[in-house]
Amino acid sequence: MTFKTAIASAAVLCIASFGAQAQNKAPVRIGLMLPYTGTYAALGNAIENGFKLYVQEQGGKLAGREIAYFKVDDESDPSKATDNVGKLIKRDNVDVLVGTVHSGVALGMAKAARESKTLLIIPNAGADAITGPMCAPNIVRSSFSNWQPAYAMGKVAAEKGLKRAITITWNYAAGAESVKGFAEAFEKGGGKVIKDLNLPFPGVEFQALLTEIAAQKPDVVYAFFAGGGAVKFVKDYAAAGLNKSIPLYGAGFLTDGTLEAQGDSAQGMLTTLHYADNLDTPRNNAFRKSYALAYKSNADVYAVQGYDAAQILAAGLNAAKGDLGKRDVITAAMHKVVVDSPRGKFTISAAGNPVQDIYLREVKGNYNENRGVAVKALADPARGCKL
Ligand code: BEZ
Repeated sequence: MTFKTAIASAAVLCIASFGAQAQNKAPVRIGLMLPYTGTYAALGNAIENGFKLYVQEQGGKLAGREIAYFKVDDESDPSKATDNVGKLIKRDNVDVLVGTVHSGVALGMAKAARESKTLLIIPNAGADAITGPMCAPNIVRSSFSNWQPAYAMGKVAAEKGLKRAITITWNYAAGAESVKGFAEAFEKGGGKVIKDLNLPFPGVEFQALLTEIAAQKPDVVYAFFAGGGAVKFVKDYAAAGLNKSIPLYGAGFLTDGTLEAQGDSAQGMLTTLHYADNLDTPRNNAFRKSYALAYKSNADVYAVQGYDAAQILAAGLNAAKGDLGKRDVITAAMHKVVVDSPRGKFTISAAGNPVQDIYLREVKGNYNENRGVAVKALADPARGCKL
């Protein structure tokens, strides 16, 4: 090498390393794709609040890097999912996607994340396929699979000696998978699902279906609804007088973030979920206090999932010392983390889904109170995941 070429290559090296350092100092670009309108709007807002609360607690930075947020309202509309996620990936050039609530929309996001290899943290949507056949190292969930809380409720219902169940839900991935998970455990325990009722998402015309339930007189009804739809369903069920004779069980979304609006109609209801409001641990108490101070409202499961999505990202970025180029280090750390969550500590499976306790909860006033662990350290079966 001549003196001239040595100087030239040193200069190239110098520029390249300056470029990498500048990149490491630039803000981490986070794309929040959540519903800010429609029946799941409150869920999207709580997730964003929870995520930002954790970042604020770290001084507004993760792994020493500032955070820049880019937001898209996905409207819980699967037909717009590809366009919406494309805006974040291509237009806003985000480093990490965080979203979403609705399983149908999340399936579109997961497809785009797999193709573009963008990091994706799912702070709610339980679509079983995402940590099943679509599993990928760059996709991790901070929430649950649709199977998890449903399976636990089926087990509880069977253990209570209930025999004949009717299920009712919206006709889309989350509802279908939730009633399937319930039926799996309920029928294994000796029960029988005698009828599956459903209506299109996000419809709330429940009257004909409630009439059908009254006519069939099952021992129990299992429901999957969430957000605004859950408020209306629980109120309509009580207004029809059905809560007096047929217990209404559900995955905990039926009564989470909804209790002030549901009032008397939800009192005493039993549900299963990976969170309960009154878990009396220093971690949960501190989280609920900071959340209430910051947002003047009570934390719910969605806020917890947003908070934990930020914790999972922080674990990845910390392992790579903030260097987004170290993809393998980030994704490995995001899978290895033990998340110190308000719900209790949990780990992440190889497929990218939380392995977590599922609580049995009872509604008392405006709280979903813990009535014990229904299933300890429940792992989704991750059917079809090949890594
Ligand atoms: C879902 O679509 O996966 C979902 C939506 C709301 C609550 C729980 C699950």
